[in-house]
Amino acid sequence: MAGLLGIEGLERSEIEAILNRARDFQPFENHTYKRLDVLKGKLIVNLFFEASTRTRTSFEIAAKRLGADAVSITAAGSSVSKGESLVDTLNTLAAMHPDAIVMRHAASGAPHFLARHLATPIINAGDGTHEHPTQALLDARTILDQRPSLEGLRVAIIGDIAHSRVARSNIHLLSKFGVDLVLCGPASLAPPELARIAPGVRITYDMREAIRDADVIMMLRVQLERQHEAFFPGGEYFQFYGLRLEHLDLARPDVLVMHPGPINRGREISSEVADSQKSVILSQVENGVAVRMAVLERILGGHGKTAD
Ligand code: NCD
Repeated sequence: MAGLLGIEGLERSEIEAILNRARDFQPFENHTYKRLDVLKGKLIVNLFFEASTRTRTSFEIAAKRLGADAVSITAAGSSVSKGESLVDTLNTLAAMHPDAIVMRHAASGAPHFLARHLATPIINAGDGTHEHPTQALLDARTILDQRPSLEGLRVAIIGDIAHSRVARSNIHLLSKFGVDLVLCGPASLAPPELARIAPGVRITYDMREAIRDADVIMMLRVQLERQHEAFFPGGEYFQFYGLRLEHLDLARPDVLVMHPGPINRGREISSEVADSQKSVILSQVENGVAVRMAVLERILGGHGKTAD
């Protein structure tokens, strides 16, 4: 693997290999983490032009657990805030000879631009509204921790689909594995053309219909930072598209409630649901480290070695 820019271009077998390897890196209960040295001497630069808590820290933890050196650069604290262009920032970074660059940027396609200009492997940690591949991988790992396979599961993705890179990467991944996918949100945030991202994807504007018999409900944050006009009156959003306890009765009894975070309690999800037994939101965060370890190992070599 030369890098990871998106799920769309990945083979199913490659996704399976990452998900299987991630299992080796999941923490055992009451076990302290052993630092491995499969990536010893490697330098990973995390370049974040957009806010991040989970993704940035878990990439950092993943790199360190594999024995690599990791440095994080955030736009606010870098020369980007002094007006340096993306190309100049990248050339400067490249001169430090990192072995991989993990990048998050508000512009869709920014990591692809980088990949065309640098020989260094680039890992996309979220580009605009386009893709967030490691999020979809950790989501799949989280589902597979609870279900034997993805095939035939009914997954509802609900919220601001139009602006969500998480939704796009998940749609690509889940449709490669034969999931019955239904997208749901207000018409302005779930336009009909989204159904064309992958075959077999349906759209509904009725939250109850989306949730009925669902095995998995993925909630999305409303991406206010990507909306330049009012897509939906804020106060009414929760009433129509907020996930509440009463909805869960419509789904399968063992439904998994997911959310990539950060969650806005009382906006897209109620506290009762976010904190319920059905919520696997913190397992998603936990799997973020394991999946990113598997991705870094695969890209930077060293795979084939055992985790212990
Ligand atoms: C997501 C993102 O940045 O796309 N967050 C994350 O990586 N966990 C989702 C979001 O910000 O709503």
